[in-house]
Amino acid sequence: MNTRVLTGITTSGTPHLGNYAGAIRPSIQASMLPGVDAFYFMADYHALIKCDDPQRIARSRLEIAATWIAAGLDPEKVTFYRQSDIPEIPELCWMLTCVTAKGLMNRAHAYKAAVDQNVARQQEPDDGITMGLFSYPVLMAADILLFNANKVPVGRDQIQHLEMARDIAQRFNHLYGQGKDLFVLPEVQIAEDVATLPGLDGRKMSKSYDNTIPLFEGGAKALRAAVMRIVTDSRQPGEPKDAEGSHLYALYRAFAAPQAAAQFRKQLEEGMGWGEAKDQLCILIEDELSPMRERYVQLMASPDRIEDILQAGAVKARRLAQPLMERLRVAVGLRAAPVPSQAPAARKSAGKRARFVSFRDQDGQFRFRLLAADGQELLLSEGFADPKAAGVAMGKLKDEPIASLLTRDDQVASLHLDGALVCRFDAALLPRVHEAVAELNQE
Ligand code: TRP
Repeated sequence: MNTRVLTGITTSGTPHLGNYAGAIRPSIQASMLPGVDAFYFMADYHALIKCDDPQRIARSRLEIAATWIAAGLDPEKVTFYRQSDIPEIPELCWMLTCVTAKGLMNRAHAYKAAVDQNVARQQEPDDGITMGLFSYPVLMAADILLFNANKVPVGRDQIQHLEMARDIAQRFNHLYGQGKDLFVLPEVQIAEDVATLPGLDGRKMSKSYDNTIPLFEGGAKALRAAVMRIVTDSRQPGEPKDAEGSHLYALYRAFAAPQAAAQFRKQLEEGMGWGEAKDQLCILIEDELSPMRERYVQLMASPDRIEDILQAGAVKARRLAQPLMERLRVAVGLRAAPVPSQAPAARKSAGKRARFVSFRDQDGQFRFRLLAADGQELLLSEGFADPKAAGVAMGKLKDEPIASLLTRDDQVASLHLDGALVCRFDAALLPRVHEAVAELNQE
């Protein structure tokens, strides 16, 4: 069973070098690990909480999507989507809002900090505080719970939000789960070994300190200009430098292999001038960034391509979100539970039915899909070398009691025939698979 790793990127700014080394690079690496299903999304509803400038929202969305793809995110492997393309998120957000204690939200750090600031300025405690800011942790819980994420990599400032998401999930499970958990309890993941880059002045690199080094914006020239502004001490070339204490070295280390970093350090300790050290740092960072920057520029020039990638991501994400939402609507009583065996005549008149569709894949293997009456793909078979074998498998699925062929491991259901694996699919789809097979049996 793969671990689902999910994180959101608020689309209210332009990524800088610190974002790259601290979040983008490690997240992309993590998404390539075996046994990981990564869900990375652009948290554009969250951006509206902080930013009411439509142009900035639009621009940031493009820049962030282009940055992640240019930096190597593989949209085939990662489910990469935009929050506002998933209507199930605000829908779930409302369900969660209705079980979330207001008192819990009163304790949120971000809200409390805003209140404290108002009080310190002798203003009304809630002056300028929107409901978006106040209930933001509920939206974040919806982002996470909708995909039953196991691990959520975030910065330390988000730990409390993860605790709140777990609280809310537990309450929902308790109220509506009827003994079965509707939501997985997510765990926070704080990266200890990831580089927190210092900015030009040595404080943490952050837009709010105005000390950032640009990632792609402005090209190699802007990168170089920023590196030249890194603050150093006044030691002259030839004088030994305190490498360990210099943030120039900290920046170098974040991009160099250990050996090269040790070499750089030695050179500084032996008197390399800061000017030369900056030149070396530029070359090192350029080496990693320049091929990415080329892809970035191309992507920024074709927003349609970015849009296509995001739309494909939304389809992938919704394939998981829709069946869970259907279950949740039933669980809270908004919808009746699906009735598996309706009269066949009634079904027929309703138009299309569930069906198998078989095809030959790119590798020449024979596979089939089970589609629900509404066309949703419910399962995709493993490849069969022989089309007849695929046909036999489909026949058996129609004829044998499907429950006896299914096993379920937490969130993944597997279907076996005569000991051989036929397919694995999201266990949330089980009710729909049962329903579809029941329909087929009536043919
Ligand atoms: N609030 C997060 C931040 O500011 C971004 C975010 C939104 C997020 N939804 C999320 C992170 C869900 C993890 C999971 O950094």
